[in-house]
Amino acid sequence: MAVAAPEPLVAKPSALKRFTKKLFRAVANRDPEYYDMYLDQRESRFAELYLRPLQQHLKEAGVLPPARILDAGCQTGRLLVPLAKDGYSVTGIDRSLFALRRAKAHLRNAGARAKLTRGDIGSVLSKPGDGYDAVICAEVLYLCEDYRLLLAKLASAVKPGGLLCVSHRPQAYYLVEALRKGDMDAAAYVLSNREGAFRGHSYFNWQTEEQLRALYEELGLSLLAVYPIDRFAWLAGLDIGAFDQGTCQEWLRREIDTPLEGGLCARYSFAIAARDR
Ligand SMILES: C[S@@+](CC[C@H](N)C(=O)[O-])C[C@H]1O[C@@H](n2cnc3c(N)ncnc32)[C@H](O)[C@@H]1O
Repeated sequence: MAVAAPEPLVAKPSALKRFTKKLFRAVANRDPEYYDMYLDQRESRFAELYLRPLQQHLKEAGVLPPARILDAGCQTGRLLVPLAKDGYSVTGIDRSLFALRRAKAHLRNAGARAKLTRGDIGSVLSKPGDGYDAVICAEVLYLCEDYRLLLAKLASAVKPGGLLCVSHRPQAYYLVEALRKGDMDAAAYVLSNREGAFRGHSYFNWQTEEQLRALYEELGLSLLAVYPIDRFAWLAGLDIGAFDQGTCQEWLRREIDTPLEGGLCARYSFAIAARDR
C-alpha cells in the first residue's frame, strides 16, 4: 500500500499572507489593503451628501442631541463619527471587528464617543431594545439578498416620531452602468426587475422612487424625501479626491442644490422616512 508523502512543513504563501494580515490588524490596528471609508478623502466628501440632508431632517423632526441614533453597518465611522461629534448618543453595528476597532480609534482622535456593537444587523435588532430616534443604514442594503427583512428590522427599531434613513441603488444607476458596457441584455434585465445578479456579479437590488415609497409604506413609514448621492462625479467620471477645496465646495453646492428633475440618476439614493407619532 502506497503511503502518502507528508505535507512539507512550509506555510503556503496565502496562509502566511492571511496570518501576517491578521497579526498586523491585531497588533497595529492597520491593514494597508483595507478600504477605510472614514480616512478616504473621496468617501469623506461623499459623506457630506448624506450628512447635510440628514442633519436638516433630524432638526425638522425635533431629533436633537443627545437623541439616540443607530448607524447600522457603520464600518469605520464615516457617518457615525460626525454624528457623535454633534452630540448624539450613537450606536454603531457592524459585523467586522476590524472596522469597529478602526471606528473606535477615529472616535478617540475626534474626541467623541459612541457605543459599538459587533454582529449582524438582523440578529442584533432581533433582540428587544428601547428603539432609536433615528436609524441610519448607508451603502449596505443594496448588497443584501435579505434586504427586505433587514429593512423591516431597521424600521421596527425606529421610535414613533423617529426617522429611518437608508441608502439604496437607483434603477437608473445599473441601467447606465449596463449601457456604458454596451450590455443590452443587462439593461433590459435592470428595467424589468428590481433585484438579482447584475452582469454575473453578486446579488444587488435597485429601486425607483415609486418602488421605495411602496417599500416604506408596507413598513408603516412615510417617505419624506429621496436625495441623490453622487450624480455629477459618477456620470462625468470625475475623481472628487483630486478636487481642490474651492472646486470641492462648488461640486458639493451643485450636487445638493440642483433640483431633482428627470428621475433619480445617481450612484445611490438616500431615502428619509418617518414613523408616525
Ligand atoms: C460599504 S460599508 C458602508 C459603511 C458606512 N455605512 C458608510 O456609509 O460609511 C458596508 C459596511 O456594512 C457592513 N455590513 C454589511 N452587511 C452587514 C450586516 N448584515 N450586518 C452588519 N454589518 C454589515 C460591512 O461589514 C461594512 O463595514
